[in-house]
Amino acid sequence: MHEALLSSARILRCPLCHRDAAFHSGSFLCENRHCFDLASAGYLNLVPQQKSGKYGKSAFQSRAFVFAAGAYLPLAERLAQILPSAPFSPGFCLLDAGCGEGYYASFLQSALRVPLIGLDIERDAIRLAAKRSQAVAWLVADLSNLPLQNQSVAAVLNLLSPANYGEFARVLRPDGLLVKVVPGENYLAELRLLLGGSLRAESVAGVEAEALFRQNAADCSIEELDYRFPVSKELAAQFFAMTPMGFGRELPPGALLGLRSIRIHLKILTGRRP
Ligand SMILES: C[S@@+](CC[C@H](N)C(=O)[O-])C[C@H]1O[C@@H](n2cnc3c(N)ncnc32)[C@H](O)[C@@H]1O
Ligand SMILES: [Zn+2]
Repeated sequence: MHEALLSSARILRCPLCHRDAAFHSGSFLCENRHCFDLASAGYLNLVPQQKSGKYGKSAFQSRAFVFAAGAYLPLAERLAQILPSAPFSPGFCLLDAGCGEGYYASFLQSALRVPLIGLDIERDAIRLAAKRSQAVAWLVADLSNLPLQNQSVAAVLNLLSPANYGEFARVLRPDGLLVKVVPGENYLAELRLLLGGSLRAESVAGVEAEALFRQNAADCSIEELDYRFPVSKELAAQFFAMTPMGFGRELPPGALLGLRSIRIHLKILTGRRP
């Protein structure tokens, strides 16, 4: 059940004191005796005192519904083409930092067969992820305090999630690969316009994210994925419920009726550890 976690033990460290730690009969125990239980559902919770997060279970379930419809398969497939250029020699893993409910990590583990750690701060997300695959080592953990040893990772993936470039540089091996995905200016454009938002805000956020990435990675390249995914009314509603822009907001009755497709416009930023 915990095989992927047990075999990642050498890469992990205690999130509290940063000392080495090891698994002992169902617990993860560090040299200073900080102790974390392995969940029987197949993940390790390194943030046991967490309050409920921003996303919550139903947003992750909506994300899973949208993934099952294939809406993000082009991105998963493109990542599977990009990642083999990472230096995956034995002992180095791929880290998905902010993995959500684990769609990409599970896909990439079966496509690439490399040791993979999927990490998210929300336990509800990691619970769903652990149901997807037991071949990935799933952690409830904070990407701004990664529970990983220095230079233990061949590639960091950071998809539509906050970044912490200091931590990414610390855990990446010297020639390690950094892949970040940010929304393009037309990402989910139809939904944002229905909510009365503007596309400009997303465009400004995207430019800022790109600039920050360039400051923190060498040999940067940027490519765009831009397509329209056909939607039923039900699928459109799940798209709406899965993103923070839909949280706590109601669409006008019938707003999604005329919607035939949703635009998925993403930027894939790739670079090396500087
Ligand atoms: C928009 S979701 C993207 C999830 C996934 N990468 C995907 O594309 O489906 C952003 C994710 O970042 C996670 N997140 C936010 N802050 C985090 C932190 N400090 N450490 C780890 N994960 C974090 C959230 O819990 C959420 O799952
Ligand atoms: Zn400790």
